[in-house]
Order: sequence, then C-alpha cells, then structure tokens
Amino acid sequence: MSDRDHLKRAAAARAVEFVEPGMVLGLGTGSTAAFVIERLGQLVAQGLDVVGIPSSERTAEMARHLGIRLTTFAEHGRIDLTIDGADEVLRGSLDLVKGGGGALLREKIVAAASDRFIVVVDDEKLVDRLGQHVPVPVEVTQFGWQATAAALERLGGRPELRQAAGRPFATDGGNFIFDCRFASIDDPGRLECRLNMTVGVVDSGLFVGRSSAVVVASERGVDILKPGQGVR
Ligand code: A5P
Repeated sequence: MSDRDHLKRAAAARAVEFVEPGMVLGLGTGSTAAFVIERLGQLVAQGLDVVGIPSSERTAEMARHLGIRLTTFAEHGRIDLTIDGADEVLRGSLDLVKGGGGALLREKIVAAASDRFIVVVDDEKLVDRLGQHVPVPVEVTQFGWQATAAALERLGGRPELRQAAGRPFATDGGNFIFDCRFASIDDPGRLECRLNMTVGVVDSGLFVGRSSAVVVASERGVDILKPGQGVR
C-alpha cells in the first residue's frame, strides 16, 4: 500500500460510475487501474453485466479472479469505455505518458478502439510538461535493439533499456522497452509521430489526443478534467 492509494481508490470509484450495464470495457493496467478492476469485481458480484478486454496478462488474471467476464477483439470490434491509469497527464490537453508498468502497446490498442477513454490519476501525476517526472517508455523489437537505441539517440533521446531481475524486461508481446529521456518535449504529437516512424519501434507511451476525460483525486476531492478545460 502506498500513501497515494486512498486517492487512487477515490479516482477509480468515481470513474466506475461511468460504467453502464451491457458495456464492453477496456481494462487498464497498473496500481490505479487495479482499484478500478477491484470496484468492477464488486459490482459484477452484485449483478452488473459487463465484459472486459484486458490490456495485460496481469490485468486478465486479476479480472478472472474477481469473476469479470473477459472477451477479445475477435468478438467485439469496439470498446464502449476504457478506464486506465497514467504516469503523467499534461494539464490542458490531457496528453499522457503511460507504460511505467510495461503494458503500453496493449493499452494503446485498447484505448484506440474505445469510444471513451477515461484516465484515473492522483494529482501528483498532473504536469506542465510531459517528461517532467518520468521518461517516455518506448517499446521496441528485440531484434536490432542496439540499432534502434542509436536511432532514438538521433531523435534527441537518452534511451535506457528497462531491466527486470537482472535481464532486459520483456513485455507481454515479447518486446523490450527503452525508458527514454528527452531534454524537452515541446510538441508531444510530433514526438509521438517521429517515434512511430522509427524502424524497430513498436509504439511509445505517449498518448496524444486520446483522453476523453481525466478523473483526478486530491486531498481536496475528485475533479473531472476534459481536454482543453477543467470541469468538475
Ligand atoms: C502500465 O503500463 C501503465 O501505463 C500504467 O497505466 C501507468 O504506469 C500508471 O500506473 P500506476 O497507476 O501504477 O501509477
């Protein structure tokens, strides 16, 4: 348990109020998304009928354990609503850095297929510039990762290969992740495009123009932000 958990739980509970019976839900990954799944599990136990598409094996396991029915893109081409966490949220545009938990590719596929994408965070995640507190995770193929690292350096990044238990961290899809620092991210959309055009890059943790709303919990209460405005 972290000292931010009560805020993460509050944001999750508020976001789950947007869930309606019969929905196809995108299930996020990470400690805040876990509170969403926990709350959904309680509602499902009380009779709520929804199905979920998980954004990671970890999330799939948790959802199954809580009795949340899972489905796939083979059965449902669109998702009604996805609720997921983020590592940073840019004030105003609500662009994001995600992927601290390593699930960025599946998270982005799920977000892109969603009619609504609601982000749940505590207020420490709000920033005036992306990359302020965390590097940008960049998922790359294992093949040629050294060449891809050199290409990322040419884009102005400082890529560090993510490690787990003394070896390169591998994603659910078997790829590697570079945690990539950039001196200054002035135009997140441009950087996202440039990263995606880099050979060897599978995708990045920059989520630009995807947030429908961000539910932010602070000690003062829970706010709902919309892109371009700050509405309760
Ligand atoms: C998982 O890959 C990430 O994108 C998470 O959504 C993000 O790291 C936020 O995680 P926490 O809610 O644990 O901070």
